[in-house]
Amino acid sequence: MGDLDGKVALVTGAASGIGRATSELLAERGARVCVVDRDTAGGGAVADAIGGIFVAADCGDTTDVDAAFARCEADLGGVDIAYLNAGIAIGVADITALDDETYHRIQRVNVDGVVYGARAAVRAMKRRGGGAIVATSSLAGIIAFPTDPVYDGGKHFVVGFVRSLAPTLEPLGITINTVNPGITDTNIIGRDAKDALDRVGFPVMPASQIAHAVLALVTSGVTGQCWVCQAGREPVPYTFRDVPGPRTGGTTSWPPEDAQ
Ligand SMILES: NC(=O)c1ccc[n+]([C@@H]2O[C@H](COP(=O)([O-])OP(=O)(O)OC[C@H]3O[C@@H](n4cnc5c(N)ncnc54)[C@H](O)[C@@H]3O)[C@@H](O)[C@H]2O)c1
Repeated sequence: MGDLDGKVALVTGAASGIGRATSELLAERGARVCVVDRDTAGGGAVADAIGGIFVAADCGDTTDVDAAFARCEADLGGVDIAYLNAGIAIGVADITALDDETYHRIQRVNVDGVVYGARAAVRAMKRRGGGAIVATSSLAGIIAFPTDPVYDGGKHFVVGFVRSLAPTLEPLGITINTVNPGITDTNIIGRDAKDALDRVGFPVMPASQIAHAVLALVTSGVTGQCWVCQAGREPVPYTFRDVPGPRTGGTTSWPPEDAQ
């Protein structure tokens, strides 16, 4: 018996890394999992290992995403948990070296994929009477990341999108949050970077640590939060600073009088 008995989870980017670890944990806790990835061999193997189903899909393609959610509903009876996690990095720091193909390749999965996934999830969860959505942003969704500014911008998009959707989804019984991992030991960081981090003793998290943050988010009932995950720490909801409000009549101090 697990805390997710009777629940159905759809996980994108589930063939490896964080998505795979999360699929395994959700299944271990009793959920039936729909493993979604463009990697057919890897995704099929994960689904077989956890007794789930696999749907091959390109998360940057709206038809594929809708079809994956439809398969999940048809085969597993609905969608209670959607973990929108598929993503790539491009590592292009020099904006003059960014070609259009590379730009669109990352935007379509890291940005479009989250929008298409959230839309399909909300449609399915309305039919179910509620649910929990989590999207994988990144620490790069909160801080600057000069080695991959397009990746950073996409992850900031995920933060703003999720926080903005949360109030509209709350009355429907649907929560939506992000996980914002620091450096995690998966294929995306590459072997060379991992070796370099190991050499300087920089702590790199196992993917299972992010999986536990996702599990905590989908069972907590919170919404509109962005949970920072760092090595050796509990996940921490990021606190966004309030912005200065406008000044009201008579108290304006800007622009200076001599500039008016
Ligand atoms: N590993 C890190 O340090 C780190 C840190 C912060 C955020 N993230 C984010 O975590 C998420 C998962 O990445 P990971 O670290 O597990 O890397 P990963 O490369 O191990 O896994 C990514 C998965 O997404 C799949 N995928 C990529 N493009 C796809 C597409 N168009 N359609 C369907 N599937 C697609 C891949 O096949 C792969 O299985 C990504 O969104 C990534 O940006 C990773």
